[in-house]
Amino acid sequence: MSGNSSPTQPIALYDSGVGGLSVLRAVRSALPREHLLYFGDQAKVPYGSRSLEELRSLAEASARFLLSQCAKLIVIACNTASAAALKHLRAVLPEVPFVGMEPAVKPAAEQTHTRKVGVLATPSTFQGELYASVVERFAQDVEIFQSTCPGLVSQIEKARLAAPKTRRILEEAVLPMLDAGADTLVLGCTHYPFVIPLIEKIAAGRARVIDPAPAVARQTARVLAERGLLNPGPDEGSLRFITSGEPAAFEYALSRLLGLNSKAEAAHWQGGELELISR
Ligand code: DGL
Repeated sequence: MSGNSSPTQPIALYDSGVGGLSVLRAVRSALPREHLLYFGDQAKVPYGSRSLEELRSLAEASARFLLSQCAKLIVIACNTASAAALKHLRAVLPEVPFVGMEPAVKPAAEQTHTRKVGVLATPSTFQGELYASVVERFAQDVEIFQSTCPGLVSQIEKARLAAPKTRRILEEAVLPMLDAGADTLVLGCTHYPFVIPLIEKIAAGRARVIDPAPAVARQTARVLAERGLLNPGPDEGSLRFITSGEPAAFEYALSRLLGLNSKAEAAHWQGGELELISR
């Protein structure tokens, strides 16, 4: 598909659920003329504790589905799927431009004064080679504290951004890091930027928080420009949303997280492949 893609085709973004909307927000603001197609695999959320093998096959089927919907580039707007499947996707779909996420350990290592950094991510992301390699390459002299924030993805899926339970999960993750001297927090899961206001309240000025989404949007722009695929149109691009879960639940989260009152379409898993149900 993408070998002869045209600039007017959409950029696709893919996540386990609504987390990648934090990346969509940044892509929209960097590239307002681009048509964006978002797929949240809410039938399978959370991805964070699934095996690498399963994540690879979910990501490959999702990418093939997004290509069938005319994507010209796919942003894997999910750290977990990027860690597990990005290499595989580039090998099986070599003609497709992919942009992936990696925990922002490099900018954190550059910015920390205490040389202590906290990373919040899912278990699969921490276990993957990608995380080990960014730590090894960029943070050899930095002490890293890790937390998987159990239950946080599910709170954000329900758009419970300031609920007492959400606060408790974050306090348990972040306070020990701050008490140990971390002055920089890396959000290694695309769901987490939606709770930056709460993290900042908890941190009370003791740490800065790094959201990688703007850097991913810049990388998306670079890759499109290199391939001559930036949409030159004068108008604002369209937005299209698809979920493998309940459209009503997706629409509710979309309105709470981004203030957008758009409709979502449904796609269902059928024998390992995604099928669009409605348009
Ligand atoms: N938003 C995802 C990430 O960036 C996945 C969260 C999950 O489904 O566990 O890792």
